[in-house]
Amino acid sequence: MGTLLFTLLLTALVSESSCVQWSSSALKEDAAVYTCDNSDLTLSWDVSKTTGETILDVQWYYEGRSQKLIAMLAQGHLNVMPSFSGRVELTANAGIVINHVTTGEKGNYSVEVNAQTKNGGFVTLRRTASVLVGAEGLMIRDGQLHASQKAVAVFSNSTQQWHVALACGTFTYHDTPPFTLEWTTPSGQSVSSSRYKEGQFLLLLDNPVSGGSYTCHVPHSSASVACLHGNSTDVSSTVVVDDVKSRLTLLEAENQQLKGSVVELKAENGQLKEFVKQGNQTIDSVSTRLRQHLHDERTKQVSFHASGLNNTTPSSGDVLIPTTVLNNQGNGYNPATGKFTAPYNGTYCFMSSLWGQGSGHYIAVYLMVEGKQELYVHTTFGSAGVSDTASLQAVLSVRAGQSVWLKAGGDSNQFFSGSNHNSFSGFLVSYDL
Ligand SMILES: *[C@@H]1O[C@H](CO)[C@@H](O)[C@H](O)[C@H]1NC(C)=O
Ligand SMILES: *[C@@H]1O[C@H](CO)[C@@H](O)[C@H](O)[C@H]1NC(C)=O
Ligand SMILES: *[C@@H]1O[C@H](CO)[C@@H](O)[C@H](O)[C@H]1NC(C)=O
Ligand SMILES: *[C@@H]1O[C@H](CO)[C@@H](O)[C@H](O)[C@H]1NC(C)=O
Ligand SMILES: *[C@@H]1O[C@H](CO)[C@@H](O)[C@H](O)[C@H]1NC(C)=O
Ligand SMILES: *[C@@H]1O[C@H](CO)[C@@H](O)[C@H](O)[C@H]1NC(C)=O
Repeated sequence: MGTLLFTLLLTALVSESSCVQWSSSALKEDAAVYTCDNSDLTLSWDVSKTTGETILDVQWYYEGRSQKLIAMLAQGHLNVMPSFSGRVELTANAGIVINHVTTGEKGNYSVEVNAQTKNGGFVTLRRTASVLVGAEGLMIRDGQLHASQKAVAVFSNSTQQWHVALACGTFTYHDTPPFTLEWTTPSGQSVSSSRYKEGQFLLLLDNPVSGGSYTCHVPHSSASVACLHGNSTDVSSTVVVDDVKSRLTLLEAENQQLKGSVVELKAENGQLKEFVKQGNQTIDSVSTRLRQHLHDERTKQVSFHASGLNNTTPSSGDVLIPTTVLNNQGNGYNPATGKFTAPYNGTYCFMSSLWGQGSGHYIAVYLMVEGKQELYVHTTFGSAGVSDTASLQAVLSVRAGQSVWLKAGGDSNQFFSGSNHNSFSGFLVSYDL
């Protein structure tokens, strides 16, 4: 981390201090430069520097067969090698013009600039240009222009249409030639090429295609840059366009495009099917879960009802134990202990119907949930000893494993015996998900 920071800092310092650099207008690295036989070759390299910086020397090389020094600039003095003697002019800080270059002098030219920076450091800048020297017609393969009609139509992004394309070339420039070709249409109009591709200028014909002769040629204004020193219209080529054949070419292209669209549609259809399949799988998984849920709803049904106390005169704190079990869905109620144990976390409803009698006695009962007194009922029969009933109801949240029971609240409880008296019942209202 520290090393990285230090490196970054050093890099920043070094790049800040080396202000001698290529001007933005200078030829880029490996730029293609064209000139014609016996003409001037302009190598527009240039460096910019700030005050306090010194260019120590500049050297230019030609790398035809082996590296050869062309000239050297040192201490303001330009030394030109004998083979370039009298042909080299200095331009800007690192550029030169070489007069009367010949076709044999094509190849790579390079420059090396040695400079001293403000803080005494040394900087070397190097660049190379790839030079082609054209003789009359040499930049065209066979020395001849060849106009032809492309067998396949070309789609234009700007018109969003297919076009019959005419081609004219073939040029041997490293990249785009420094001029464009002009075309003369059957109606005598002059139009520029639409684009340049793979050594050929293309003309996209307007729809509907006008049949007739189309001639490509180098415009007069570009004759010298194209190394055509004579009458440039002498270098031309003509193609005869048949409008019926052209319409077929367009139809074919449109047909191909339609076929392509059908393939795309098929692929899209496949994707849609896959999408539907995934949808189906989602629906399947949801419906499986729904079925499981409904199944759970059925199996998680819990209810119980028991009556008939085993002891009609319980002591204070005794559990009231109804022993006649009429319903015990889910087996939560235990008639041996009188306790209901919740099988699930959930909301439960509990009820009790109690009936007792006897002078001086009463009914005093608690509803207990895991040892906690949740509800209390109390009746007093009075001295006449008439019978009386008591009831309790509660809807409670109970956790799985917790027990619920009825507890005698004093020592003078007295209930009726009989299996259909004194009930304890309950059911699950809903379980927690
Ligand atoms: C010029 O340089 C390029 C890349 O540096 C190299 O591929 C090419 O062969 C060179 N051309 C000549 C004529 O030396
Ligand atoms: C035409 O448009 C397509 C897609 O937008 C693009 O890939 C292509 O390069 C464009 N062609 C031209 C010649 O502009
Ligand atoms: C160039 O040649 C064409 C056809 O050969 C001729 O019509 C035209 O007049 C000539 N132009 C000049 C400037 O000589
Ligand atoms: C999706 O489910 C529907 C209805 O069950 C069925 O007709 C269709 O074939 C399924 N599609 C796929 C791709 O599984
Ligand atoms: C009632 O049942 C409990 C628990 O089984 C038992 O302890 C108790 O003695 C029983 N009472 C009578 C009167 O049978
Ligand atoms: C029941 O509820 C308790 C407390 O909220 C929780 O810790 C426990 O996991 C729950 N049990 C089930 C089976 O959902």
